[in-house]
Amino acid sequence: MLQDSEQFDVDAAFETGLIEARQLWSRMGTTPAFQDKRVLEIGSGLGSLSASIALAGAKTVVGADIWEPRVVFANKKVRARFPELTNVSFTSTPVEQLDPAEPFDVIVSQNTFEHIADIDAVLAAIRRLLAPGGHAYIGFSPLYHSPYGDHGELRAPVRLPWLHLVAGRKQVIAAYNRANREAATTLAQCGYNGHKPAMFRRAFERSGLSIEQVRVNPGEGRLKRAAMAAFRALARLPGLEPYFTVGMYVRLRRP
Ligand SMILES: C[S@@+](CC[C@H](N)C(=O)[O-])C[C@H]1O[C@@H](n2cnc3c(N)ncnc32)[C@H](O)[C@@H]1O
Repeated sequence: MLQDSEQFDVDAAFETGLIEARQLWSRMGTTPAFQDKRVLEIGSGLGSLSASIALAGAKTVVGADIWEPRVVFANKKVRARFPELTNVSFTSTPVEQLDPAEPFDVIVSQNTFEHIADIDAVLAAIRRLLAPGGHAYIGFSPLYHSPYGDHGELRAPVRLPWLHLVAGRKQVIAAYNRANREAATTLAQCGYNGHKPAMFRRAFERSGLSIEQVRVNPGEGRLKRAAMAAFRALARLPGLEPYFTVGMYVRLRRP
């Protein structure tokens, strides 16, 4: 599989991630109070969001990501960029296997739930790892059936909306294999669960966590907000929900 550094400037992406952390909370409609909280991030990637949460005063932050090279990068990067942050660490232990001494007050996840292979298992882990009354903030975009839901994986010369759906999964998998010198046979092996919004909703409903909020297609700026409002209206038409649901921003609470 191609490493991040073969595809983009990882240091610049880390800096962008620090700035974009604010976008997550704006899309969520609220910024959690992190002061003195024990926080877990699921799918911590390069580590920017975890770092920003530590900077906001969290007591401890654990970033979990199943891709080891990203965990190595995040540990090194945060140590070098913010030497004062001694309370952030990253692990490649799957959250299903985490066994912390104390439960977490807050669990966050950004742009990861559309990649997670077993959503039920991760939601069960969230329920187990959260303190009673604790919240999980889960925001993710773009969903697979939305206009650019393949995350550019098709590598078409021109990026057209829904082209990956027209081309079909076989073409997406083939393009992924060519670029990464892999032999994936399923979309899940390429890192996408391909779930539709209703599948996510049902998973949240059976998780044993209370669903406090599901925001669909929030966006920034007047133009994007207008477009996303139009998408929300179209998503309500029978059969169209998967194609016009770009992002879901969900707040869950452990009873
Ligand atoms: C698109 S990246 C997003 C990274 C970061 N949250 C961000 O917004 O930049 C998705 C990340 O989720 C990770 N991931 C996928 N499945 C996971 C799982 N079950 N548990 C933890 N991380 C997972 C991937 O390795 C990848 O780093």
